[in-house]
Amino acid sequence: MRISVMQQLKVDLSERSYDILIGAGLLDEPGSAAAEIFAGRSILLIADTNTAPLYLERARTAINKAGAARCESFVFPAGEENKNFATLEELLRHAASLELDRKSCFVALGGGVCGDMTGFAASCYMRGVDFVQIPTSLLAMVDSSVGGKTGIDLPEGKNLVGAFWQPQLVIIDPTLLKTLPARELRCGLAEVAKYAVIMDSELFDILDEYAERLLALDLELYEEIVARCCQLKADVVAQDEREGGIRAILNYGHTFGHALEIVTDFTLNHGEAVAVGMNMAGTLAVDMGVFNKKDLLRQIQLLNDLELPQTFFGAQTEDVFKAMFKDKKQSGGKLVLILPEKLGKVRIERNADEKMVRQAIGSCL
Ligand code: GLY
Repeated sequence: MRISVMQQLKVDLSERSYDILIGAGLLDEPGSAAAEIFAGRSILLIADTNTAPLYLERARTAINKAGAARCESFVFPAGEENKNFATLEELLRHAASLELDRKSCFVALGGGVCGDMTGFAASCYMRGVDFVQIPTSLLAMVDSSVGGKTGIDLPEGKNLVGAFWQPQLVIIDPTLLKTLPARELRCGLAEVAKYAVIMDSELFDILDEYAERLLALDLELYEEIVARCCQLKADVVAQDEREGGIRAILNYGHTFGHALEIVTDFTLNHGEAVAVGMNMAGTLAVDMGVFNKKDLLRQIQLLNDLELPQTFFGAQTEDVFKAMFKDKKQSGGKLVLILPEKLGKVRIERNADEKMVRQAIGSCL
């Protein structure tokens, strides 16, 4: 694989286009693209209680060096349970109390929760301000920081309130992964494996070969892998920004996975649930005769090598099945499932037989 110093990718969305910068050291030296955005502006840097002690001051220094007029901050308690209206209100009121105007820019410095909430706050503060993503988790680097899905949770479900609001720039410094807990790293690797199965068989082979190096946090390898996943996501988002069609393939393993998260009361984290969900989707595809057993075994082997679970004991098939209908991605009471046809290719399936779906769930519980 080619090892480079810095990669610059583009999410091509006409007037909403933006760059993704990927490179070691970008947190401290984000370069001229960042300076163009930050120079002369009031910045609100948003982090949680995990990322703030690690990175907030370094990010503030870089933003000030890039020529910001001022750099304020907002820190909220870490955890999905805080991605809610109460934190959003606090954030927005903090921005208002600082008299930040509509030319100010919000910066998300954190994982998926921070990015989703910052983006949503940016979408509605003063009817919309600019924002920049600086993801600190692998999951946020390869998935949630790119594509403009923003939002908060309701007690009734995850991400039920939100907006499509694209960032102006995504700055990814893979060295930030050094402080990511191992379980969270594996959670991000589930999303990486997802890209491989849905659209990149060559990436699948690379993951297969280098699983050990990934678990050992080979940062040069991560730079390449993160760039490759961002490119795949950028291509999909450029074709279908608002998930009217092909963007749904990014939900591979997620309909089963979200249901498992709910049923297990989040004992499984997102990536673990997605990994089990990929196994359920792959099993269903084999049962339906659209995916071959050999490829399913390769998927199982890869997820094993990445130390991700394939099964979860203790949940009931019927509970998981019912919870799948609560996913906001389902339409008109019908299941929409992403099923593999071969490694690197999936289909959107709207007519899966419910008995077979239950069987596939049961085989992984
Ligand atoms: N995480 C899936 C998407 O952004 O569409």
